[in-house]
Amino acid sequence: MSKQTLIIIKPDGIQRHLAGEIISRFEKKGFKLVAAKFVQISEALSRKLYAEHKGKPFFEGLAKYLSSSPSLLMVWEAEGIIDMTRKMLGDTFGYDAQPGTIRGDFSCSRGYNLVHGSDSAASAEKEIPLFFGADEIVDYELADSCWLYGRND
Ligand code: RTP
Ligand code: MG
Repeated sequence: MSKQTLIIIKPDGIQRHLAGEIISRFEKKGFKLVAAKFVQISEALSRKLYAEHKGKPFFEGLAKYLSSSPSLLMVWEAEGIIDMTRKMLGDTFGYDAQPGTIRGDFSCSRGYNLVHGSDSAASAEKEIPLFFGADEIVDYELADSCWLYGRND
């Protein structure tokens, strides 16, 4: 599972018409999409996803924000996916994030930062099963993977 990460285009990403832009960045990088669903996440599930932040001042608002409108949930796969996706997301607060990152290019906010990405392999292993059954994750090969990883010899 460590080659996989949970990516969520959060409610502001959908409402601001940025889903295609965000997906496009992951596609162009070469990552493989292995699962996707478009749902309004419940407040209970939002609390589970962000359980590590329970008790912090922003926790209640965070759970309400994530459950306020639909999100696009995806599992993406690549060698080294967690480090790469976290770099591509940028720093947590949009106004701090570097230009060129998703948050740096499109978010000016603290909490409303468009996209969630698992922060470690252990987090991904906990987060993915909250939203996807094993039978909803597709196992297949991308035809260009030897070109992506430079294994043509
Ligand atoms: P994420 O889990 O969504 O990928 O974000 P992250 O790792 O960059 O940031 P994290 O520290 O895990 O915080 C989770 C989400 O909580 C909101 N937040 N608001 N108002 C605040 O001070 C504050 N701090 C965090 C953000 O939506 C953040 O993505
Ligand atoms: Mg986090």
